[in-house]
Amino acid sequence: MPNNTRKVVVIGAGAVGTAYCYALAQSGLADHIALIDKNSSLAHGNVLDLRHGLPFLPSLTITVGTPEDYQDADLIVITAGAAQKPGQTRMDLLSMNAAIIRAIMQDIQTQASQAVIIIATNPVDVMTYVAIQSAGGDRGRIFGSGTVLDSARFRQMLSSRCGVDIQNVHAYILGEHGDSELAAWSMTHIAGMPIDDYCPICGTCEDWKLERRQIEKAVRDSAYHIIDYKGATNWAIGLALTRITRAVLRDTHSVLTVSTLLDGEYGLKDVCLSVPCIVSAKGIEKVIESKLPLHEQDLLSNSANVLETAIKEIRWNRFSNNYNL
Ligand SMILES: NC(=O)c1ccc[n+]([C@@H]2O[C@H](COP(=O)([O-])OP(=O)(O)OC[C@H]3O[C@@H](n4cnc5c(N)ncnc54)[C@H](O)[C@@H]3O)[C@@H](O)[C@H]2O)c1
Repeated sequence: MPNNTRKVVVIGAGAVGTAYCYALAQSGLADHIALIDKNSSLAHGNVLDLRHGLPFLPSLTITVGTPEDYQDADLIVITAGAAQKPGQTRMDLLSMNAAIIRAIMQDIQTQASQAVIIIATNPVDVMTYVAIQSAGGDRGRIFGSGTVLDSARFRQMLSSRCGVDIQNVHAYILGEHGDSELAAWSMTHIAGMPIDDYCPICGTCEDWKLERRQIEKAVRDSAYHIIDYKGATNWAIGLALTRITRAVLRDTHSVLTVSTLLDGEYGLKDVCLSVPCIVSAKGIEKVIESKLPLHEQDLLSNSANVLETAIKEIRWNRFSNNYNL
């Protein structure tokens, strides 16, 4: 393999990891995809299945990965995680996935990898925090997929409700990828106009304030509905991860709401959550700090509190009998 190949290692060959591989393979962004799973049969089966599509794909090598693949990877995407089982609490899951992330990060460090690392495993903001701490605090190179998916859902629903091409709708979901997330209406623009100016002239709904509340709730509840229908969400997150991959491998300096370790931005510190960031080949090039109206800043701070509580619970659990890092 020549040195200038763009290599992506995907950890976790479940619903999310394979949807990402499928989208990534078609994108032409990577020259080599290495897929790793602790269930090696699952990784082998998916690699063979994808390989049989090579005649229909851009030039690409697809292999079952090993930890040695971390050494020359440009990008490592972690989708590995435990699924919640009956009788397990959310905190049990949090601790189990934290242990998985920490073990994977140790393997990556052992291989002296300089790759950009994207975490998708849930709860993604807490897992991003664990990954950064495990690596000794590299907040630029390690980040989470955050609310890139939620922002896509938000844009899709606004586009559909307003009857406007999704490419002309600019909108962000901030905070936790989860129940405490918020729609940043102050940053939402359609046709170059702030949404507050656009809604009164749009004319597609009778009560646009009510519609906004309904859209915000529908975005927040999206994953629950999809999981009720089919047990997992995977296609849109696969595409969202591919969009983030484009920013890294093509060094596009794209503004994306990825989950990053804040260091005073928005008045928040030592917590990972999503705000608009410039993403490049280095990872997070810059956190964009804009002045939010007071009620949005309050919602963001509340989201940070929720995540800080989860981080504290992990720290506490670390010293309990049940936590085995
Ligand atoms: N960030 C997002 O927007 C987003 C969206 C959807 C799902 N997710 C999360 O992504 C994760 C994966 O979801 P899924 O539906 O693919 O789950 P899944 O159960 O289908 O797949 C997870 C895979 O991880 C593997 N795995 C577990 N521990 C491992 C380890 N130590 N090393 C290698 N592989 C390991 C399992 O064998 C399994 O194949 C979950 O945490 C889920 O909540 C995140």
